[in-house]
Amino acid sequence: MSKFFALIPAAGSGSRIGEGLPKQYLALAGKPMIYHAIHTLCGAPHISHVLVVLSPEDNNWSQYNWSEFSEKLLVLNCGGATRAESVLNGLQGIKQLLTINDNDWILVHDAARPCLTPEQLENLINELSNDAIGGLLAIPVADTLKRSDTSKRAKNTESRENLWQAQTPQMFRYRLLVSALSGADRTCLTDDASAVETLGFRPKLVLGNTNNFKVTYPQDLALAELILQKREIL
Ligand code: CTP
Ligand code: MG
Repeated sequence: MSKFFALIPAAGSGSRIGEGLPKQYLALAGKPMIYHAIHTLCGAPHISHVLVVLSPEDNNWSQYNWSEFSEKLLVLNCGGATRAESVLNGLQGIKQLLTINDNDWILVHDAARPCLTPEQLENLINELSNDAIGGLLAIPVADTLKRSDTSKRAKNTESRENLWQAQTPQMFRYRLLVSALSGADRTCLTDDASAVETLGFRPKLVLGNTNNFKVTYPQDLALAELILQKREIL
């Protein structure tokens, strides 16, 4: 039986949000942002361990009490210069902490997606656990897409047919993901699936929910806060 592990890359600085604190630690619904992803992933019965990859310079993590997650949560201070580097370093680092087999599943989830629900996570796992390749949560592009010239004027309108926005978790088998990321140009990758695609595989797109957006810009914080608060009340 293959096991399931979650890996949360959390070694970014949040430059687009532009706060002093790295964005994964900004307060959301009374907790640091990363708490929400950890809570959802640790709560999934399928997932045996949740590994957080921090920057070697991180001095925020230890200021919080994570003991409620001690059964599943592991931390590695091996984040790299890009998200893909952080994920690959984490995948290599897991071996120091756990026994992991080539066919075990890894679910990579951004610390900056606090609104993932247990239902979306369960749906992803159910859709993919018998899949040969793996895949990711994604949503069909809803807005009309414009291609601009260099002076920000619309040159033409792109068809949105068959276009999806990739989210996380992205779920692949350990060996495939390590091979894909090891061989890829990790300076320009923005997700894990694109590394798998360069090997010629076609990751499955599992319908997600727009609420699972990535908190990227300052105005995203208020929306994430509202979604999380509404969930607590319900
Ligand atoms: N990430 C990481 N290591 C990096 C860069 C990013 O682990 N060197 C993580 C982030 O912490 C985040 C996820 O990858 O959880 C998605 O990245 P993004 O939203 O781009 O976060 P940042 O890189 O922190 O933000 P920005 O690009 O605005 O600087
Ligand atoms: Mg980034």
